[in-house]
Amino acid sequence: MSAQLPLADNRHYTATAKWLHWSMAALWLAAWVLGVLAVYWRDTLNPHHGLTFWHKAIASTLLFLIVIRLAWRWTHPVPSLPDTMSAQMQLLAHRGHRLLYAVALIALPISGWAWSSVADKPIMVLGWFSLPHILPTWPEAYDTVKWLHISLAWFCGALVGGHILVALKHHWRDRDGVLESMLPRRRH
Ligand code: HEM
Ligand code: HEM
Repeated sequence: MSAQLPLADNRHYTATAKWLHWSMAALWLAAWVLGVLAVYWRDTLNPHHGLTFWHKAIASTLLFLIVIRLAWRWTHPVPSLPDTMSAQMQLLAHRGHRLLYAVALIALPISGWAWSSVADKPIMVLGWFSLPHILPTWPEAYDTVKWLHISLAWFCGALVGGHILVALKHHWRDRDGVLESMLPRRRH
């Protein structure tokens, strides 16, 4: 058993940052699983494109939430990483986060939006209202944009998988409070 020291205030993300992180993480993971099920279990689970509809309905919310998240991120400092991490590891962690923002939370949803646009297919955000097309109907670009979305989706699957494994390593092996900085505060 290890005695856990309470984290100083500058070791916690703000409550809003935590809400944004966990709600977007849940939506992201759900969209990823739905995307895979929609494509690889098309005949059994997706005969009438119901899963494709919900994949797009859920994933498209990220396009709105990322605007709020970036605005919050730029106006609120993030907790410092533990001193036990070398300067090099801290730099790597910050670059990894930037990559998650840029590719998993921005480029990937935009590539899906572009794919549906060139195919002239609707995107119903949460099944509620439709998103305007970002590109004109463009059959010649279909294969390229589809390839881009699929490649980004698999690259990001690996990236997010790595992010989760690193977070668990911080918690179970390093026991350095990095995971706690993103969890609800414990009441003492
Ligand atoms: C506006 C947002 C998005 C739109 C419009 C969109 C659109 C699509 C479409 C039309 C498909 C093909 C489904 C089918 O053929 O039945 C697809 C596949 C997929 N999408 Fe998205 N997507 C979006 C965002 C995302 C996000 C955020 C993720 C990751 C969390 C993601 C991951 C995937 C995956 C893993 C596949 C299956 C790829 C494969 O063929 O191997 N998509 N997407
Ligand atoms: C079970 C799933 C997840 C766990 C346990 C987890 C854990 C964490 C933790 C502990 C941090 C802050 C500590 C740090 O690494 O410095 C963090 C930050 C972050 N996570 Fe996750 N995460 C998960 C899923 C996701 C997903 C699905 C995404 C997006 C696709 C994501 C994107 C981010 C980003 C962009 C940051 C940086 C926040 C910032 O500093 O502004 N996470 N995550």
